[in-house]
Amino acid sequence: MTASRTHTWHTRAETAADVPAIREIVLAAFPTAEEADLVDALRADPAAWIDGLSVVATDQHGAPVAHALLTRCHIDAAPALCLAPCAVLPAHQRTGAGSAAIRTALDYARERGEHHVVVLGHPEYYPRFGFTPASAAGIGLSIDVPDEASMALTLDDADPLPRGTVRYAAPFGI
Ligand SMILES: CC(C)(COP(=O)(O)OP(=O)(O)OC[C@H]1O[C@@H](n2cnc3c(N)ncnc32)[C@H](O)[C@@H]1OP(=O)(O)O)[C@@H](O)C(=O)NCCC(=O)NCCS
Repeated sequence: MTASRTHTWHTRAETAADVPAIREIVLAAFPTAEEADLVDALRADPAAWIDGLSVVATDQHGAPVAHALLTRCHIDAAPALCLAPCAVLPAHQRTGAGSAAIRTALDYARERGEHHVVVLGHPEYYPRFGFTPASAAGIGLSIDVPDEASMALTLDDADPLPRGTVRYAAPFGI
């Protein structure tokens, strides 16, 4: 459970029964089906998907309202995780559900011995989870995005972020 300013959100790893609800969340959160299709493609890619690192936050009935996904990527040759996408049903946005799902996904990753996570997203949002500018750590991308949108996090202070270029899982098409 993760406390927020308005709720204590329950979070858990996705189950097979959650798959349609997760698709509905991602479809509702983004303007096109691109991100929902990406989630399905990642789930079908054994090189990318890691069971237990697709996390939902649920409402009081146990229905998923938020989703955060960590999949395998690499920084040069070093294994890392990519946080993408994160999505919350519009009616539940800005009530802590997205943060709860993200924090739980990062906790699960740490418990599995994962050390490094990258994200592309809102530079005002992800620093609250400990993400810092990727470029400052010597991590680059093979695509052109605003520098501040690319962030990275080490889950183990004893293992600093590796330098290199992020290599995304194939479904990202990057
Ligand atoms: C972005 C998103 C995952 C955040 O989840 P959430 O549950 O709405 O956010 P939380 O309640 O956990 O956190 C609220 C904080 O997030 C910030 N936030 C929410 N959406 C944001 C956005 N689009 N840009 C920047 N900050 C955002 C709020 O300003 C708020 O900040 P505060 O705590 O300083 O007031 C969710 O709003 C969403 O699905 N948005 C549409 C899809 C999207 O943009 N996904 C992320 C792609 S990088």
